[in-house]
Amino acid sequence: MTLNSLPAWPALQTHYDAIRDERLRDWFAPQNDTTPSRAERLTFDGGGISIDFSKNRVTEATLKLLVELAQQAKVADKRDAVFAGDIVNVTEHRAVLHTALRSTDDNSPFQKEIRAEKAKMATFANKVRDGSWTGYTGKRIRHVVNIGIGGSDLGPKMVVHALQHLAQPGLDTHFVSNVDGADIYNVLKGLNAEETLAIVVSKTFTTLETMTNARSMREWFVKSGCPEEALSKHFVGVSANPEEVVKFGIAKENVFEMWDWVGGRYSLWSTVGLSIVISVGPENFEKLLAGAHAMDEHFRTAPFERNLPVLMGMIGIWYRDFFESQSVMVAPYSQAMRYLSSYLQQLEMESNGKSARLDGTMVDYPTAAVIWGEPGTNGQHAFYQMLHQGPTMIPIDFIAVLTPEHPLIDHHAKLLANCFAQSEALMLGRTMEEAKKVAGPGKEELATHLSFPGNRPTTTIILDALTPETLGAVIALYEHKVLVQGAVWDINSFDQWGVELGKILGKVVEADITSDKADPAKHDSSTSALIARAQAALKGL
Ligand code: F6P
Repeated sequence: MTLNSLPAWPALQTHYDAIRDERLRDWFAPQNDTTPSRAERLTFDGGGISIDFSKNRVTEATLKLLVELAQQAKVADKRDAVFAGDIVNVTEHRAVLHTALRSTDDNSPFQKEIRAEKAKMATFANKVRDGSWTGYTGKRIRHVVNIGIGGSDLGPKMVVHALQHLAQPGLDTHFVSNVDGADIYNVLKGLNAEETLAIVVSKTFTTLETMTNARSMREWFVKSGCPEEALSKHFVGVSANPEEVVKFGIAKENVFEMWDWVGGRYSLWSTVGLSIVISVGPENFEKLLAGAHAMDEHFRTAPFERNLPVLMGMIGIWYRDFFESQSVMVAPYSQAMRYLSSYLQQLEMESNGKSARLDGTMVDYPTAAVIWGEPGTNGQHAFYQMLHQGPTMIPIDFIAVLTPEHPLIDHHAKLLANCFAQSEALMLGRTMEEAKKVAGPGKEELATHLSFPGNRPTTTIILDALTPETLGAVIALYEHKVLVQGAVWDINSFDQWGVELGKILGKVVEADITSDKADPAKHDSSTSALIARAQAALKGL
């Protein structure tokens, strides 16, 4: 059965035709005193956070139909299959068990292995944090460099920065991902090798960028004076391929294991999060896991009508498949959460940016939206112009943190005011009549420029404070949103075949750039010309 043949789909289409021209500002018009407000009716709690969905272009009838679509698409069965450890990643024949990494249930799969690696991480992290793990000259570690890319970088990097207020003083964490030598070069030039620890994180331990950076880092240690036999004090590895880690030269006891049932973009909860554990300590890492677990439990047990990941996922489908909106902007009004949108790009677009259905047929409806964003208020002074007055509707997720993690209360009031004012302005807009008044007598020609269409949908995620628990809940919320959408779109959210072709051709092109005997006929004329230019430039170096 295809998506469009589920009964809720045509019902949603009819409903869309009926309400697409209705206006949020009318839906917010005051009702009689006894009726709960739209905000009260459409704000829901779960997993320790709260979400106000009321500024979305949905009525209760829309949500009812979207919930029916989720039920008809068997989202609950697909969710339960993930939690149970079934082989849901069918194209790679793997289970998908990131939820087991934060489970407190002894009967949840792989608890023995998970707990053993967590204990090993905690012991190691504590030694780095208390200074008993020293470098080759006996000095304590002051810098940790996480070398990884994609899921082995984006999650830990986002969390370490988001929880910076809990970081161990005097211990800095750096992230190197790009094969562009400028990345590692610029990080290392500020560091002292004697006080630096490298964590090489790669599920496969074959990724070009990570292996290239790891080798350059090893050379840097040796050139800086670290004897080969002391490198084990400066290198640890995280991988599902421990043999390769040892072959690279990392001591066996310094290898932290992860598993093929943890997807790269879902892996920050595993040993991939070692940099997080070192930065904020094992207890805070446990709290992060607990926050995610609270969201897991909410997702597993709350009725769909007030289930946060289900509602977020289904409202996303409403915009993507019925309004045909192309992208979603995510704006945490939190500088600490500045890397959230890059993390979500991989989570959502690598998971659901697909066209093949599980049965191998092609979809005939849009799947993942483009995810992008910047923290507020920065984005307001860059691209919000388009969000307010451009011809395209772009749904937005705002994240508001009610209490700051710093003492500058005056800043915080302004920050929150801006977040809430933006969603109000986007919803209300400004009619031509109102714009004429603003323009003033004799200047009516300005009115079109001063008018705002409004009716622009926003969701506001509300955290009481930015804690490991609330952060864990937000991340798990988006993970499950992806699961819900993938389940409805009937795609495999857990493979990533789309990254392979570029990797294969990358090796061919690299060989041609670095060889004298490149055959120009092998490539199209554009690629051949680009290779020739690179060869000419590199020859002179
Ligand atoms: O190329 C994409 C990808 O495989 C991601 O899915 C993954 O997170 C990233 O590369 C890094 O992979 P690894 O952890 O194996 O180095």
